[in-house]
Amino acid sequence: MGLRAKQRYNFSEKKTNQGLSPSALIRTGDKVVTAKTMDELVSLCKRRGFVYQSNEIYGGLQGFYDYGPLGVELKNNLKQAWWRAMVYERDDIEGLDASVLTNPKTLYYSGHEDTFTDPLIDCRSCNSRWRADHLKGAKCPSCNSGDLTDPRPFNLMFKTNVGPVDDGKSFTYLRPETAQQIFTNFKNVLDSTSRNLPFGIAQIGKAFRNEVTPRNFIFRTREFEQMELEFFVEPGTDEKWFDFWVEARLKWWSDQGVDQSSLELQTIEKEKLSHYSKKTTDIMYGFPHGLEELEGIANRADFDLGSHTKGQAELGIKSKVKKNTDSAMRLAFQNKQTNEWKVPYVIEPSAGVDRGFLAVLNEAYKLERLPNGKERLVLSLKPHLSPIKAAIIPLKRNHAGLLDEASKIKKTLQSLQLGRILLENSGNIGKNYRRHDEVGTPLCVTVDFQSLEDQTVTLRDRDSMKQKRVLVSEVPSSLRDLLGT
Ligand code: GAP
Repeated sequence: MGLRAKQRYNFSEKKTNQGLSPSALIRTGDKVVTAKTMDELVSLCKRRGFVYQSNEIYGGLQGFYDYGPLGVELKNNLKQAWWRAMVYERDDIEGLDASVLTNPKTLYYSGHEDTFTDPLIDCRSCNSRWRADHLKGAKCPSCNSGDLTDPRPFNLMFKTNVGPVDDGKSFTYLRPETAQQIFTNFKNVLDSTSRNLPFGIAQIGKAFRNEVTPRNFIFRTREFEQMELEFFVEPGTDEKWFDFWVEARLKWWSDQGVDQSSLELQTIEKEKLSHYSKKTTDIMYGFPHGLEELEGIANRADFDLGSHTKGQAELGIKSKVKKNTDSAMRLAFQNKQTNEWKVPYVIEPSAGVDRGFLAVLNEAYKLERLPNGKERLVLSLKPHLSPIKAAIIPLKRNHAGLLDEASKIKKTLQSLQLGRILLENSGNIGKNYRRHDEVGTPLCVTVDFQSLEDQTVTLRDRDSMKQKRVLVSEVPSSLRDLLGT
Protein backbone atom coordinates (compact mmCIF):
# COMPACT_ATOMS: atom_id res chain seq x y z
CA MET A 1 0.00 0.00 0.00
CA GLY A 2 1.49 3.33 -1.12
CA LEU A 3 0.01 5.29 1.76
CA ARG A 4 1.52 5.97 5.12
CA ALA A 5 -0.37 7.18 8.14
CA LYS A 6 1.03 10.71 8.11
CA GLN A 7 -0.59 14.04 8.32
CA ARG A 8 1.03 16.60 6.09
CA TYR A 9 0.13 19.74 7.97
CA ASN A 10 0.83 20.29 11.58
CA PHE A 11 -2.27 22.30 12.35
CA SER A 12 -1.29 23.60 15.76
CA GLU A 13 2.16 24.55 14.54
CA LYS A 14 0.65 26.38 11.59
CA LYS A 15 -1.23 28.74 13.89
CA THR A 16 1.77 29.69 15.99
CA ASN A 17 4.55 29.46 13.41
CA GLN A 18 7.05 32.20 14.40
CA GLY A 19 4.22 34.14 15.95
CA LEU A 20 2.82 34.99 12.52
CA SER A 21 -0.81 34.90 11.50
CA PRO A 22 -2.38 31.61 10.31
CA SER A 23 -1.00 32.46 6.86
CA ALA A 24 2.49 31.81 8.16
CA LEU A 25 5.14 31.46 5.50
CA ILE A 26 6.60 28.07 4.64
CA ARG A 27 9.46 27.45 2.23
CA THR A 28 9.04 24.72 -0.38
CA GLY A 29 11.96 24.36 -2.79
CA ASP A 30 12.76 27.72 -4.39
CA LYS A 31 9.30 29.12 -3.70
CA VAL A 32 7.79 30.45 -0.53
CA VAL A 33 4.18 29.48 -0.02
CA THR A 34 1.77 29.99 2.84
CA ALA A 35 -0.19 27.44 4.79
CA LYS A 36 -3.84 28.18 4.23
CA THR A 37 -6.77 28.46 6.54
CA MET A 38 -10.40 27.63 5.85
CA ASP A 39 -11.13 31.38 5.88
CA GLU A 40 -8.69 31.91 3.01
CA LEU A 41 -10.37 29.18 0.95
CA VAL A 42 -13.85 30.54 1.74
CA SER A 43 -12.72 34.01 0.73
CA LEU A 44 -11.25 32.81 -2.59
CA CYS A 45 -14.41 30.79 -3.28
CA LYS A 46 -16.66 33.79 -2.80
CA ARG A 47 -14.39 36.33 -4.53
CA ARG A 48 -13.85 34.28 -7.65
CA GLY A 49 -17.26 32.61 -7.91
CA PHE A 50 -16.59 29.05 -6.76
CA VAL A 51 -19.00 28.77 -3.81
CA TYR A 52 -21.58 31.09 -2.28
CA GLN A 53 -23.66 30.79 0.84
CA SER A 54 -27.11 29.62 -0.20
CA ASN A 55 -29.98 32.15 0.01
CA GLU A 56 -27.51 34.77 1.18
CA ILE A 57 -29.79 37.74 0.45
CA TYR A 58 -32.22 36.42 3.07
CA GLY A 59 -29.58 35.69 5.66
CA GLY A 60 -28.56 32.29 4.27
CA LEU A 61 -29.70 28.78 5.06
CA GLN A 62 -27.44 26.95 7.45
CA GLY A 63 -25.76 23.89 5.96
CA PHE A 64 -26.51 24.74 2.31
CA TYR A 65 -24.18 26.19 -0.33
CA ASP A 66 -24.42 27.17 -3.99
CA TYR A 67 -21.70 26.53 -6.54
CA GLY A 68 -20.96 29.57 -8.72
CA PRO A 69 -19.73 29.87 -12.33
CA LEU A 70 -16.29 28.40 -11.61
CA GLY A 71 -17.42 26.07 -8.83
CA VAL A 72 -19.88 24.28 -11.07
CA GLU A 73 -17.11 23.68 -13.62
CA LEU A 74 -14.64 22.34 -11.04
CA LYS A 75 -17.32 20.15 -9.47
CA ASN A 76 -18.43 18.79 -12.84
CA ASN A 77 -14.81 18.08 -13.78
CA LEU A 78 -14.27 16.15 -10.54
CA LYS A 79 -17.43 14.12 -11.10
CA GLN A 80 -16.47 13.45 -14.72
CA ALA A 81 -13.03 12.25 -13.63
CA TRP A 82 -14.69 9.80 -11.23
CA TRP A 83 -17.20 8.63 -13.87
CA ARG A 84 -14.42 8.16 -16.42
CA ALA A 85 -12.34 6.09 -13.98
CA MET A 86 -15.29 4.00 -12.82
CA VAL A 87 -17.53 3.54 -15.83
CA TYR A 88 -15.56 4.28 -19.02
CA GLU A 89 -12.12 2.95 -18.17
CA ARG A 90 -13.39 -0.32 -16.67
CA ASP A 91 -15.39 -3.06 -18.33
CA ASP A 92 -17.30 -4.26 -15.29
CA ILE A 93 -19.25 -1.20 -14.10
CA GLU A 94 -22.57 0.26 -15.26
CA GLY A 95 -23.99 3.71 -14.47
CA LEU A 96 -27.27 4.74 -12.87
CA ASP A 97 -29.15 7.94 -12.07
CA ALA A 98 -31.99 7.12 -9.68
CA SER A 99 -34.60 9.35 -8.03
CA VAL A 100 -33.83 11.36 -4.92
CA LEU A 101 -37.23 10.84 -3.31
CA THR A 102 -37.33 7.38 -1.83
CA ASN A 103 -40.13 5.03 -0.84
CA PRO A 104 -40.14 4.80 2.99
CA LYS A 105 -40.11 0.99 2.67
CA THR A 106 -36.67 1.15 1.08
CA LEU A 107 -35.37 3.10 4.06
CA TYR A 108 -37.23 0.90 6.52
CA TYR A 109 -35.62 -2.31 5.25
CA SER A 110 -32.21 -0.61 4.81
CA GLY A 111 -32.26 0.18 8.55
CA HIS A 112 -32.20 3.97 8.09
CA GLU A 113 -35.58 4.56 9.76
CA ASP A 114 -34.33 2.91 12.96
CA THR A 115 -30.64 3.60 13.05
CA PHE A 116 -29.74 6.66 10.96
CA THR A 117 -29.57 8.89 14.02
CA ASP A 118 -27.19 11.19 15.84
CA PRO A 119 -27.27 11.59 19.63
CA LEU A 120 -28.77 15.01 20.33
CA ILE A 121 -28.41 17.15 23.45
CA ASP A 122 -30.42 20.32 24.22
CA CYS A 123 -29.22 23.17 26.37
CA ARG A 124 -32.14 24.09 28.66
CA SER A 125 -30.64 27.49 29.27
CA CYS A 126 -30.21 28.89 25.72
CA ASN A 127 -32.19 26.25 23.76
CA SER A 128 -29.27 25.44 21.46
CA ARG A 129 -28.83 21.84 20.22
CA TRP A 130 -25.62 19.85 19.97
CA ARG A 131 -24.41 16.47 18.79
CA ALA A 132 -23.44 14.65 21.98
CA ASP A 133 -20.30 13.25 20.36
CA HIS A 134 -19.17 16.77 19.34
CA LEU A 135 -19.37 18.21 22.86
CA LYS A 136 -16.18 18.62 24.84
CA GLY A 137 -17.13 18.33 28.51
CA ALA A 138 -20.58 18.77 30.05
CA LYS A 139 -21.04 22.45 29.25
CA CYS A 140 -23.01 24.15 26.47
CA PRO A 141 -20.48 25.57 23.95
CA SER A 142 -22.80 28.51 23.34
CA CYS A 143 -23.67 29.81 26.86
CA ASN A 144 -21.46 27.61 29.04
CA SER A 145 -24.45 26.34 31.05
CA GLY A 146 -24.27 22.85 32.52
CA ASP A 147 -28.06 22.42 32.33
CA LEU A 148 -28.10 19.93 29.44
CA THR A 149 -30.61 17.19 28.57
CA ASP A 150 -29.61 13.54 28.28
CA PRO A 151 -28.69 12.49 24.72
CA ARG A 152 -31.59 11.23 22.60
CA PRO A 153 -31.54 9.81 19.08
CA PHE A 154 -32.37 12.25 16.29
CA ASN A 155 -33.13 10.83 12.82
CA LEU A 156 -31.21 12.67 10.12
CA MET A 157 -33.54 11.98 7.21
CA PHE A 158 -35.58 14.78 5.62
CA LYS A 159 -39.23 13.96 4.87
CA THR A 160 -41.46 15.51 2.26
CA ASN A 161 -44.99 15.02 1.03
CA VAL A 162 -45.79 13.51 -2.36
CA GLY A 163 -49.05 14.36 -4.18
CA PRO A 164 -51.69 16.96 -3.43
CA VAL A 165 -53.01 15.50 -0.17
CA ASP A 166 -50.93 15.97 2.97
CA ASP A 167 -52.55 13.23 5.07
CA GLY A 168 -49.41 12.18 6.93
CA LYS A 169 -49.29 8.87 5.02
CA SER A 170 -48.08 9.98 1.59
CA PHE A 171 -44.64 11.07 2.73
CA THR A 172 -41.29 10.08 1.23
CA TYR A 173 -37.72 10.63 2.29
CA LEU A 174 -35.01 12.57 0.52
CA ARG A 175 -32.35 9.91 0.17
CA PRO A 176 -29.64 10.07 2.85
CA GLU A 177 -27.20 8.19 0.56
CA THR A 178 -27.33 7.32 -3.13
CA ALA A 179 -26.57 3.66 -2.38
CA GLN A 180 -30.05 2.36 -1.57
CA GLN A 181 -31.49 3.04 -5.03
CA ILE A 182 -28.57 1.11 -6.50
CA PHE A 183 -29.59 -1.93 -4.46
CA THR A 184 -33.28 -1.61 -5.37
CA ASN A 185 -32.25 -1.44 -9.07
CA PHE A 186 -29.92 -4.44 -8.84
CA LYS A 187 -32.22 -6.81 -10.74
CA ASN A 188 -33.19 -4.21 -13.36
CA VAL A 189 -29.53 -3.59 -14.21
CA LEU A 190 -28.70 -7.29 -14.14
CA ASP A 191 -31.60 -8.13 -16.48
CA SER A 192 -30.82 -5.37 -18.95
CA THR A 193 -27.06 -5.90 -19.12
CA SER A 194 -26.63 -9.69 -18.54
CA ARG A 195 -23.67 -9.06 -16.25
CA ASN A 196 -21.75 -11.77 -14.40
CA LEU A 197 -20.15 -11.35 -10.99
CA PRO A 198 -18.10 -9.36 -10.22
CA PHE A 199 -19.72 -6.19 -11.54
CA GLY A 200 -20.59 -2.79 -10.19
CA ILE A 201 -23.17 -0.04 -10.43
CA ALA A 202 -21.96 3.56 -10.11
CA GLN A 203 -24.00 6.61 -9.28
CA ILE A 204 -23.33 10.30 -8.64
CA GLY A 205 -26.01 12.42 -7.06
CA LYS A 206 -27.42 14.46 -4.24
CA ALA A 207 -27.94 13.13 -0.74
CA PHE A 208 -29.63 14.93 2.15
CA ARG A 209 -29.02 14.73 5.89
CA ASN A 210 -30.48 16.97 8.53
CA GLU A 211 -27.11 17.31 10.25
CA VAL A 212 -27.39 18.63 13.81
CA THR A 213 -24.29 20.78 13.45
CA PRO A 214 -23.39 21.48 9.81
CA ARG A 215 -19.99 23.14 9.85
CA ASN A 216 -16.63 23.80 8.26
CA PHE A 217 -17.90 25.35 5.03
CA ILE A 218 -18.79 22.63 2.47
CA PHE A 219 -17.28 19.86 4.60
CA ARG A 220 -20.45 18.97 6.53
CA THR A 221 -23.63 20.21 4.89
CA ARG A 222 -27.28 19.16 4.83
CA GLU A 223 -27.41 18.82 1.03
CA PHE A 224 -24.36 17.32 -0.64
CA GLU A 225 -23.31 15.01 -3.45
CA GLN A 226 -21.90 11.53 -3.32
CA MET A 227 -20.02 9.43 -5.86
CA GLU A 228 -20.86 5.86 -4.92
CA LEU A 229 -19.97 2.52 -6.38
CA GLU A 230 -21.63 -0.70 -5.27
CA PHE A 231 -19.40 -3.52 -6.50
CA PHE A 232 -21.07 -6.94 -6.31
CA VAL A 233 -18.79 -9.93 -5.79
CA GLU A 234 -18.89 -13.66 -5.03
CA PRO A 235 -18.97 -14.22 -1.25
CA GLY A 236 -15.47 -15.32 -0.29
CA THR A 237 -13.79 -12.92 -2.74
CA ASP A 238 -14.99 -9.84 -0.82
CA GLU A 239 -11.84 -9.26 1.22
CA LYS A 240 -9.64 -9.34 -1.85
CA TRP A 241 -11.92 -6.86 -3.63
CA PHE A 242 -12.04 -4.64 -0.55
CA ASP A 243 -8.24 -4.29 -0.61
CA PHE A 244 -8.34 -3.71 -4.35
CA TRP A 245 -10.77 -0.81 -4.01
CA VAL A 246 -8.90 0.85 -1.14
CA GLU A 247 -5.76 0.90 -3.30
CA ALA A 248 -7.64 2.04 -6.43
CA ARG A 249 -9.34 4.87 -4.60
CA LEU A 250 -6.08 6.17 -3.12
CA LYS A 251 -4.54 6.23 -6.56
CA TRP A 252 -7.54 8.09 -7.94
CA TRP A 253 -7.30 10.83 -5.31
CA SER A 254 -3.64 11.17 -6.08
CA ASP A 255 -4.50 11.54 -9.80
CA GLN A 256 -6.75 14.45 -8.80
CA GLY A 257 -3.81 16.24 -7.20
CA VAL A 258 -4.41 15.17 -3.60
CA ASP A 259 -0.95 14.34 -2.39
CA GLN A 260 -0.73 10.88 -0.82
CA SER A 261 1.08 12.40 2.13
CA SER A 262 -2.07 14.42 2.91
CA LEU A 263 -4.09 11.20 3.21
CA GLU A 264 -4.37 8.62 5.93
CA LEU A 265 -6.23 5.33 6.12
CA GLN A 266 -8.30 4.62 9.22
CA THR A 267 -9.91 1.26 9.75
CA ILE A 268 -13.03 1.57 11.87
CA GLU A 269 -13.07 -0.44 15.08
CA LYS A 270 -15.58 -3.32 15.14
CA GLU A 271 -17.80 -1.73 17.83
CA LYS A 272 -18.07 1.51 15.84
CA LEU A 273 -19.02 -0.04 12.48
CA SER A 274 -22.33 0.93 10.83
CA HIS A 275 -25.07 -1.67 11.14
CA TYR A 276 -24.49 -2.93 7.58
CA SER A 277 -20.72 -3.15 7.59
CA LYS A 278 -18.38 -6.10 7.98
CA LYS A 279 -15.36 -3.82 7.59
CA THR A 280 -14.89 -0.12 6.81
CA THR A 281 -11.74 1.82 6.02
CA ASP A 282 -11.97 5.59 5.76
CA ILE A 283 -9.68 7.65 3.58
CA MET A 284 -8.91 10.64 5.80
CA TYR A 285 -7.62 13.95 4.47
CA GLY A 286 -5.86 16.82 6.23
CA PHE A 287 -8.54 19.49 5.71
CA PRO A 288 -7.70 23.00 6.99
CA HIS A 289 -9.81 22.29 10.11
CA GLY A 290 -8.26 18.87 10.79
CA LEU A 291 -7.89 15.31 9.65
CA GLU A 292 -11.36 14.09 8.59
CA GLU A 293 -13.11 11.56 6.36
CA LEU A 294 -12.97 12.17 2.63
CA GLU A 295 -14.25 8.78 1.48
CA GLY A 296 -15.37 5.55 3.13
CA ILE A 297 -14.83 2.07 1.73
CA ALA A 298 -17.15 -0.52 3.25
CA ASN A 299 -17.59 -4.25 2.94
CA ARG A 300 -21.39 -4.36 3.23
CA ALA A 301 -21.42 -8.18 2.83
CA ASP A 302 -24.93 -9.42 1.83
CA PHE A 303 -26.74 -6.95 4.09
CA ASP A 304 -28.34 -4.70 1.47
CA LEU A 305 -29.46 -7.11 -1.22
CA GLY A 306 -30.37 -9.53 1.59
CA SER A 307 -32.52 -6.83 3.26
CA HIS A 308 -34.37 -5.85 0.08
CA THR A 309 -34.85 -9.26 -1.55
CA LYS A 310 -37.96 -11.39 -1.60
CA GLY A 311 -37.59 -15.06 -0.66
CA GLN A 312 -34.97 -14.35 2.02
CA ALA A 313 -35.41 -17.78 3.62
CA GLU A 314 -34.07 -19.68 0.56
CA LEU A 315 -30.99 -17.54 0.07
CA GLY A 316 -28.80 -18.35 3.09
CA ILE A 317 -28.24 -14.69 3.97
CA LYS A 318 -25.37 -14.26 6.43
CA SER A 319 -26.03 -10.67 7.62
CA LYS A 320 -28.65 -9.87 10.24
CA VAL A 321 -31.56 -8.45 8.20
CA LYS A 322 -35.20 -7.54 8.84
CA LYS A 323 -37.77 -10.03 7.57
CA ASN A 324 -38.95 -8.57 4.25
CA THR A 325 -42.66 -9.06 3.49
CA ASP A 326 -42.93 -6.32 0.84
CA SER A 327 -40.28 -6.88 -1.81
CA ALA A 328 -41.43 -8.05 -5.25
CA MET A 329 -37.97 -9.02 -6.57
CA ARG A 330 -35.34 -11.61 -5.86
CA LEU A 331 -32.07 -9.68 -5.55
CA ALA A 332 -29.72 -12.57 -6.00
CA PHE A 333 -27.49 -14.16 -8.61
CA GLN A 334 -27.84 -17.61 -10.16
CA ASN A 335 -24.74 -19.68 -10.69
CA LYS A 336 -25.09 -20.96 -14.27
CA GLN A 337 -23.32 -24.26 -13.51
CA THR A 338 -24.97 -25.22 -10.22
CA ASN A 339 -28.26 -23.29 -10.70
CA GLU A 340 -27.83 -22.21 -7.09
CA TRP A 341 -29.08 -18.72 -6.10
CA LYS A 342 -26.79 -16.60 -3.95
CA VAL A 343 -26.90 -13.06 -2.61
CA PRO A 344 -23.68 -11.34 -3.75
CA TYR A 345 -21.52 -9.44 -1.27
CA VAL A 346 -20.92 -5.79 -1.98
CA ILE A 347 -17.89 -3.53 -1.66
CA GLU A 348 -18.76 0.16 -1.53
CA PRO A 349 -16.33 3.03 -2.14
CA SER A 350 -18.38 6.12 -1.22
CA ALA A 351 -16.85 9.55 -1.75
CA GLY A 352 -18.24 13.01 -1.07
CA VAL A 353 -18.08 15.37 -4.06
CA ASP A 354 -18.09 18.47 -1.88
CA ARG A 355 -15.35 17.14 0.40
CA GLY A 356 -13.37 16.18 -2.71
CA PHE A 357 -13.87 19.72 -4.04
CA LEU A 358 -12.54 21.16 -0.77
CA ALA A 359 -9.59 18.78 -0.75
CA VAL A 360 -8.44 19.52 -4.32
CA LEU A 361 -8.88 23.24 -3.72
CA ASN A 362 -6.88 23.07 -0.50
CA GLU A 363 -4.10 21.10 -2.19
CA ALA A 364 -3.95 23.49 -5.14
CA TYR A 365 -4.02 26.79 -3.22
CA LYS A 366 -0.59 28.38 -3.04
CA LEU A 367 0.48 31.87 -2.12
CA GLU A 368 3.94 32.33 -3.62
CA ARG A 369 6.53 34.95 -2.86
CA LEU A 370 8.19 35.63 -6.20
CA PRO A 371 11.88 36.52 -6.65
CA ASN A 372 10.87 40.16 -7.30
CA GLY A 373 9.34 40.30 -3.80
CA LYS A 374 5.73 40.29 -5.01
CA GLU A 375 3.17 37.70 -3.99
CA ARG A 376 1.03 35.65 -6.29
CA LEU A 377 -1.89 33.43 -5.43
CA VAL A 378 -2.02 30.45 -7.73
CA LEU A 379 -4.41 27.54 -7.85
CA SER A 380 -2.29 24.79 -9.30
CA LEU A 381 -5.16 22.44 -10.03
CA LYS A 382 -4.59 19.43 -12.24
CA PRO A 383 -5.49 20.85 -15.68
CA HIS A 384 -8.31 18.33 -16.20
CA LEU A 385 -10.02 19.81 -13.12
CA SER A 386 -9.46 23.48 -13.96
CA PRO A 387 -12.73 25.36 -14.41
CA ILE A 388 -11.32 27.25 -17.39
CA LYS A 389 -8.92 25.39 -19.66
CA ALA A 390 -7.54 28.39 -21.53
CA ALA A 391 -8.01 32.15 -21.57
CA ILE A 392 -7.58 33.99 -24.86
CA ILE A 393 -6.47 37.56 -24.20
CA PRO A 394 -6.26 40.25 -26.90
CA LEU A 395 -3.54 42.76 -25.97
CA LYS A 396 -5.85 45.76 -26.49
CA ARG A 397 -9.47 45.95 -25.42
CA ASN A 398 -12.11 46.27 -28.16
CA HIS A 399 -9.54 46.30 -30.97
CA ALA A 400 -11.41 44.80 -33.92
CA GLY A 401 -8.45 42.99 -35.51
CA LEU A 402 -7.17 41.49 -32.23
CA LEU A 403 -10.67 40.58 -31.11
CA ASP A 404 -11.38 38.88 -34.40
CA GLU A 405 -8.19 36.79 -34.21
CA ALA A 406 -8.82 35.94 -30.54
CA SER A 407 -12.41 34.91 -31.30
CA LYS A 408 -11.19 32.54 -34.03
CA ILE A 409 -8.73 30.91 -31.59
CA LYS A 410 -11.42 30.64 -28.95
CA LYS A 411 -13.78 28.97 -31.43
CA THR A 412 -11.14 26.48 -32.52
CA LEU A 413 -10.21 25.57 -28.95
CA GLN A 414 -13.84 25.37 -27.86
CA SER A 415 -14.58 22.95 -30.67
CA LEU A 416 -12.07 20.49 -29.17
CA GLN A 417 -14.60 19.98 -26.35
CA LEU A 418 -11.99 19.99 -23.64
CA GLY A 419 -13.98 22.29 -21.35
CA ARG A 420 -14.55 26.00 -20.98
CA ILE A 421 -12.40 28.42 -23.02
CA LEU A 422 -12.73 32.08 -22.11
CA LEU A 423 -12.23 35.15 -24.27
CA GLU A 424 -11.00 38.03 -22.08
CA ASN A 425 -11.67 41.36 -23.78
CA SER A 426 -10.44 43.59 -20.98
CA GLY A 427 -7.04 44.53 -22.30
CA ASN A 428 -4.98 44.34 -19.12
CA ILE A 429 -2.61 41.42 -19.57
CA GLY A 430 -1.05 41.55 -16.09
CA LYS A 431 -4.44 41.62 -14.34
CA ASN A 432 -5.70 38.79 -16.52
CA TYR A 433 -2.71 36.60 -15.76
CA ARG A 434 -3.24 37.24 -12.02
CA ARG A 435 -6.93 36.46 -12.21
CA HIS A 436 -6.36 33.26 -14.17
CA ASP A 437 -3.60 32.15 -11.79
CA GLU A 438 -6.08 32.53 -8.94
CA VAL A 439 -8.75 30.43 -10.61
CA GLY A 440 -6.33 27.80 -11.88
CA THR A 441 -6.45 28.37 -15.66
CA PRO A 442 -3.46 26.35 -16.91
CA LEU A 443 -2.92 28.28 -20.15
CA CYS A 444 -3.23 31.90 -21.26
CA VAL A 445 -3.00 32.74 -24.96
CA THR A 446 -2.13 36.36 -25.70
CA VAL A 447 -2.95 37.85 -29.08
CA ASP A 448 -0.92 40.95 -29.96
CA PHE A 449 -0.20 43.08 -32.99
CA GLN A 450 2.55 40.74 -34.16
CA SER A 451 -0.07 37.97 -34.24
CA LEU A 452 -1.89 39.82 -37.01
CA GLU A 453 1.27 39.83 -39.11
CA ASP A 454 2.82 36.39 -38.55
CA GLN A 455 0.05 34.24 -37.03
CA THR A 456 1.94 33.66 -33.78
CA VAL A 457 0.70 34.11 -30.20
CA THR A 458 2.23 34.02 -26.72
CA LEU A 459 1.46 31.01 -24.54
CA ARG A 460 1.86 31.57 -20.81
CA ASP A 461 2.05 28.59 -18.47
CA ARG A 462 0.30 29.01 -15.09
CA ASP A 463 2.69 27.07 -12.88
CA SER A 464 6.08 28.08 -14.30
CA MET A 465 4.86 31.49 -15.57
CA LYS A 466 7.10 30.78 -18.61
CA GLN A 467 6.07 32.31 -21.89
CA LYS A 468 6.75 31.13 -25.42
CA ARG A 469 5.83 32.23 -28.89
CA VAL A 470 4.07 29.63 -31.04
CA LEU A 471 2.14 29.51 -34.29
CA VAL A 472 -1.65 29.84 -33.87
CA SER A 473 -1.96 26.47 -35.59
CA GLU A 474 0.06 24.89 -32.73
CA VAL A 475 -2.19 26.16 -29.91
CA PRO A 476 -4.68 23.24 -29.99
CA SER A 477 -1.92 20.64 -29.63
CA SER A 478 -0.30 22.66 -26.81
CA LEU A 479 -3.59 22.67 -24.93
CA ARG A 480 -4.12 18.97 -25.60
CA ASP A 481 -0.63 18.21 -24.29
CA LEU A 482 -1.33 20.14 -21.12
CA LEU A 483 -4.57 18.27 -20.54
CA GLY A 484 -3.06 14.91 -21.48
CA THR A 485 -5.77 14.16 -24.05
N1 GAP B 1 -23.33 4.86 1.40
C1 GAP B 1 -22.39 4.98 2.45
C2 GAP B 1 -22.36 6.34 3.04
O1 GAP B 1 -23.18 7.18 2.75
P1 GAP B 1 -21.01 7.87 4.66
O2 GAP B 1 -19.67 7.67 5.28
O3 GAP B 1 -22.14 8.27 5.54
O4 GAP B 1 -21.33 6.51 3.89
C3 GAP B 1 -19.97 8.75 2.43
O5 GAP B 1 -20.88 8.94 3.50
C4 GAP B 1 -19.27 10.04 2.08
O6 GAP B 1 -20.24 11.08 1.87
C5 GAP B 1 -18.38 10.58 3.21
O7 GAP B 1 -17.09 9.99 3.16
C6 GAP B 1 -18.32 12.06 2.88
O8 GAP B 1 -17.35 12.32 1.89
C7 GAP B 1 -19.69 12.32 2.29
N2 GAP B 1 -20.59 12.93 3.30
C8 GAP B 1 -21.27 12.30 4.26
N3 GAP B 1 -21.98 13.17 5.00
C9 GAP B 1 -21.74 14.40 4.50
C10 GAP B 1 -22.18 15.73 4.82
N4 GAP B 1 -23.05 15.96 5.78
N5 GAP B 1 -21.71 16.76 4.10
C11 GAP B 1 -20.84 16.54 3.07
N6 GAP B 1 -20.40 15.32 2.72
C12 GAP B 1 -20.83 14.25 3.41
